[in-house]
Amino acid sequence: MNPTTESNFSFLEEGFSARDVIEQKINESSSTDDRDAFYVCDLGDILKKHLRWTRALPRITPFYAVKCNDSRSVVTTLASMGTGFDCASKTEIQLVQSLGVDPSRIIYANPCKQVSQIKYASAHGVQMMTFDSEVELGKVARYHDNAKLVLRIATDDSKAVCRLSIKFGAQLKACRGLLEKARDLGLDVVGVSFHVGSGCTDPQTYSQAISDARCVFDIGAELGFDMNLLDIGGGFPGSDDVDLKFEEITSVINPALDKYFPVDSLVKIIAEPGRFYVASAYTLVVNIIAKKVILDDDNASDDEDEGTTDRTNMYYVNDGVYGSFNCILYDHAHCLPLLHKRPKSDEPLYPCSIWGPTCDGLDRIVEQCTMPDLQVGDWLVFENMGAYTVAAASTFNGFQRPDIYYVISRPSWNHVERISSEGIHAPDECCLQELPVHCGRERLVEMPNKPPQSVV
Ligand SMILES: Cc1ncc(COP(=O)(O)O)c(C=O)c1O
Repeated sequence: MNPTTESNFSFLEEGFSARDVIEQKINESSSTDDRDAFYVCDLGDILKKHLRWTRALPRITPFYAVKCNDSRSVVTTLASMGTGFDCASKTEIQLVQSLGVDPSRIIYANPCKQVSQIKYASAHGVQMMTFDSEVELGKVARYHDNAKLVLRIATDDSKAVCRLSIKFGAQLKACRGLLEKARDLGLDVVGVSFHVGSGCTDPQTYSQAISDARCVFDIGAELGFDMNLLDIGGGFPGSDDVDLKFEEITSVINPALDKYFPVDSLVKIIAEPGRFYVASAYTLVVNIIAKKVILDDDNASDDEDEGTTDRTNMYYVNDGVYGSFNCILYDHAHCLPLLHKRPKSDEPLYPCSIWGPTCDGLDRIVEQCTMPDLQVGDWLVFENMGAYTVAAASTFNGFQRPDIYYVISRPSWNHVERISSEGIHAPDECCLQELPVHCGRERLVEMPNKPPQSVV
């Protein structure tokens, strides 16, 4: 394989996948001591997600939530495909606008904004912005010339993995007062937004929130507002490795939209997906840099004690919770690795834990799992690592963030270019299938209390 570098990504040669790039990088660095952690990001996976989105939610324009992963390559790919963007800050607006995205494709979706950043949005033509309080209305009236305001309402996100309505969103009973205040200030309220919480586990939350949004539209109409925008936020899964699949959620959303916001209502519907677009595109590969063997009698030993299973292996790898695995702390993620080295079928499994490289005891990636006996220098592979990982990673203790190698196949790239120039045509099954897919890999790492098994 000889990937051709163009811009900041490489083309995959025909017949090669992102998985082959991982193998190549591992082979290259395995002959040296320089076995740094790295990512491979398959931009073609983002294209597939976009096709999946347009197929399942044909009425909804995605405004990608930049906070989830602000990599320039990701944002460029999405901008080429014509998505909009949910920006939460001046810096995110700058990033998106630096790629030539028109301000009409940006929603400043942070209900609590710094005055200087409201002024920045105003000066740079960003009009759509959310609010959920009277104070925010006062700031916008004073510091923005021509805002198109979107009232964010609270949802019952008690079943979501990451709750947001504890911080943002007006209660339904407060909405009339807020709309009256906006009218008194001469502000233009164009619609309603909500977020069901990131990692939604109950699709009914969407239908309830859509029905609540309808009530707010009706109040708005009574008060003389011409509302024409519904923003259903994020909350969609980033991989199929979850109980509630994307299409199960969309099969609840679509009828709710048809009931409360039928096509002839002429309401434009947008969403703010983050995790959905990027999680599965990124694979993180880490190296075991140290190992400690704890014998059952509590004697720690650095030596191998072949043949006994009465021990726990502690592995230390070169990325941790202060880096990519901050998602364990901030995003409530549960990360389990795949083994790079294929073990023999009769190889014994040992209880083990996996730790990051810093000096903090909090820096633990996996508390308990079972794996074959691994050595310093072996590699572990973590899939679905694109959402809320690199975006919040620090360099605490001097540990650098992993390099990221962006790849895309020629057919995928041609497809992105076609969408860029011609717009999207209703994708069909065969169109999705002709794009290269991630290969499966043996999963031999088990969570506690489950019998060891291999899933191919
Ligand atoms: C306002 C807003 N929109 C969209 C998102 C993206 O959510 P998700 O990654 O669940 O799609 C978030 C995440 O925190 C958010 O706060």
